[in-house]
Amino acid sequence: MTGKPKVALVTGACSGIGLALVDQLLSDWETDRVYACCRNPDSSPELYDRMEADSRLVPVSLDVTSERSIAAAMEIIGRAPRLDLVINTAGLLHNENGMRPEKRLSEVNADDLLLAFDVNALGTMRLAMALEPLLKESPAPRFLSLSARVGSIEDNRAGGWYAYRASKAALNMLLKTLAIEWSRLRPRIVCAALHPGTVATSLSAPFTRNRKSTQQLFTPSEAAGHLLGVIAGLQPEQSGGFFAWDGTEIPW
Ligand SMILES: NC(=O)c1ccc[n+]([C@@H]2O[C@H](COP(=O)([O-])OP(=O)(O)OC[C@H]3O[C@@H](n4cnc5c(N)ncnc54)[C@H](OP(=O)(O)O)[C@@H]3O)[C@@H](O)[C@H]2O)c1
Repeated sequence: MTGKPKVALVTGACSGIGLALVDQLLSDWETDRVYACCRNPDSSPELYDRMEADSRLVPVSLDVTSERSIAAAMEIIGRAPRLDLVINTAGLLHNENGMRPEKRLSEVNADDLLLAFDVNALGTMRLAMALEPLLKESPAPRFLSLSARVGSIEDNRAGGWYAYRASKAALNMLLKTLAIEWSRLRPRIVCAALHPGTVATSLSAPFTRNRKSTQQLFTPSEAAGHLLGVIAGLQPEQSGGFFAWDGTEIPW
């Protein structure tokens, strides 16, 4: 990557992979400013402690499903001269209202399908629309969104998880289309979908308890290190791709 990003923005920054990315952007990457976005930063002691210790961290309340929330967040983010790196980690697999990955058709629920698309796919588009002017000010902008290998249509051998799979597949198509448009306007831009591997977070917890010891399960910190390594290596000609944590390309 040509130079480390001076100004970065991470969504989903209150927990899991997003929080670990914020930590490493501030420590290893020595980023000048990191906008750490999540729905309710005030309720995150982890983020609050980091903000107290490091004035480069700017917590921002942002809900990727709400244009009003994004507009309010832009009142803060819009003061930045530019954005060099955006990593959207906001994602939904299950929730406290009973949403669970479906094992069979009879468990599919239209409301949960729509909610998964809203967070996992449309959220990225809302961010892209709001942040495009700031990304255009960067000499080498990067816009990444965390997808998931289960969003690969070609790789789908096990079935199930309708809402999550389909919403991540939709995310992949949106990112590919966006990458094509942006490459015409800004040849140095990188826009891509990333798979972090299986990571021990609240999102994966209900599904990783019975994993065999031979199956990889990364800590959020390990995952953030892998992802930043991939991001650092991505070249503009790889924009529009779908990459795993080890840099290998995942089939659509
Ligand atoms: N963990 C894995 O094994 C794994 C595997 C493949 C892909 N992924 C992907 O990696 C990403 C990060 O997940 P994680 O494992 O770090 O889980 P996590 O800790 O649950 O993080 C998910 C984040 O999404 C945010 N979020 C959910 N709805 C949102 C909304 N409407 N607006 C803004 N933010 C919202 C949450 O923020 P708040 O609730 O704090 O607002 C939370 O910080 C997700 O996109 C996930 O699909 C994870």
